[in-house]
Amino acid sequence: MGHEAPEKPPVLMTLSDADLEALAALEAAHGWVTAGSAARLAASLRAPGTLVFGLVADDAVVGYAAMDRQPFEAELQAVMVDTRWRGRGLARRLLAEVVEQARAWGSERLLLEVRVGNASAIALYRGAGFEDDGIRRGYYPPRQAGAVREDALLMSLALE
Ligand SMILES: CC(C)(COP(=O)(O)OP(=O)(O)OC[C@H]1O[C@@H](n2cnc3c(N)ncnc32)[C@H](O)[C@@H]1OP(=O)(O)O)[C@@H](O)C(=O)NCCC(=O)NCCS
Repeated sequence: MGHEAPEKPPVLMTLSDADLEALAALEAAHGWVTAGSAARLAASLRAPGTLVFGLVADDAVVGYAAMDRQPFEAELQAVMVDTRWRGRGLARRLLAEVVEQARAWGSERLLLEVRVGNASAIALYRGAGFEDDGIRRGYYPPRQAGAVREDALLMSLALE
């Protein structure tokens, strides 16, 4: 595409079914589409207890975070920012919104799991106060055929 990202800060909003296409386009642009990805996104946008926050700039979703409400805890399912918009504090902004929502739900903790090799995400979470709870061995399927499964780092943020 080659065009510069506009300077107007993206607007944070709760996404709905109507945003499925824009959300799928963001994931597709980053090679995140796997079998069932569109169905998974659609399910997230519809599921009761699941919220998807998006950052929208010029009608495009440039970042999103999905979270889920459980009986006593909340879980961060995913956070992602368009490569052209990274390094500007947008993931931090999305995460702050997720934390605020989990507090509003009265959740005791906000939980997440992340690939042990995902240094930037782990730095994001540690910077927001998340602590390491342990490792789940071989949790993630290999990224490519022939590669080994990857461990998950379990992290949580106490909200009380
Ligand atoms: C991880 C990700 C969401 C960060 O998005 P971002 O908008 O660039 O992050 P921010 O600008 O808000 O940065 C917040 C903090 O995250 C950490 N961080 C972000 N990018 C980083 C990088 N490339 N290297 C190291 N730390 C990084 C830093 O601690 C940073 O704080 P700092 O700026 O004070 O150093 C983004 O890289 C992404 O979408 N990655 C692919 C999807 C993914 O892996 N998601 C997580 C698992 S679902």
